[in-house]
Amino acid sequence: MRQPLVAGNWKMNGSLASVRELLAGLKAGIDDVKVAEVAVCPPAVFIPEVQAQLEGTPIAWGGQDLSVHESGAYTGEIAGPMLTDFGCKYVIIGHSERRTYHGETDQLVAEKFTAARKAGLVPLFCIGETQEERESGITEEVVARQIDAVIEHCGVDMLGEGVIAYEPVWAIGTGLTATPEQAQEVHAFIRQRIAQSNAEVAEGLRILYGGSMKPGNAAELLANPDIDGGLIGGASLKAEDFLGICTAAND
Ligand code: PGA
Repeated sequence: MRQPLVAGNWKMNGSLASVRELLAGLKAGIDDVKVAEVAVCPPAVFIPEVQAQLEGTPIAWGGQDLSVHESGAYTGEIAGPMLTDFGCKYVIIGHSERRTYHGETDQLVAEKFTAARKAGLVPLFCIGETQEERESGITEEVVARQIDAVIEHCGVDMLGEGVIAYEPVWAIGTGLTATPEQAQEVHAFIRQRIAQSNAEVAEGLRILYGGSMKPGNAAELLANPDIDGGLIGGASLKAEDFLGICTAAND
């Protein structure tokens, strides 16, 4: 049985005051979350505060990115061991915003996957097609390429130590959500693709959906057999909305 995971991607949002308020709200409501594992990924500077507030609660935390290097002259970068030093369990890698605005390639993302595992972090590995790619009918080709890059670089066993987040780029922050049928279809394809390398890994791997997931559409998405949780952007910034998605996995 795959335990659902609902992870919040706060992106570049928040202040110390708003982070404290959000964490207080999450702690107050977390007991209502019966089934899902819950995690938050704040901007790096807030990680010590998140650790201080969440240590000893069931809520895990993680980074939004990491360097492929372990230390050294890489101004502005954050290394995996630094994240683990502050109690991070997860790290998001390959988010479409990093692929688009920071030129991250499939190869670099695969190297980040290895760097994360080397540091003992669980990668939340993001994949997904753009609107143009979907309209051209190459969604499966794109996600297969993104997955294959990690399998080739890290091996399928290491892929199985992470979590996949399928995030159609056209659904991120746009209010457009993939229909449960559209999402399930791609999730099933992803699992089947991985099964070609290792059926056991494919069966155990959690595949999250991301892209305008909200309390109002979470239950119907999570009801699908291959959707094992969500990676939540906008709706993770409000405790009530985020907890609403987390509790949608209760049934
Ligand atoms: P969204 O973002 O929920 O705001 O669409 C999801 C993500 O980018 O992880």
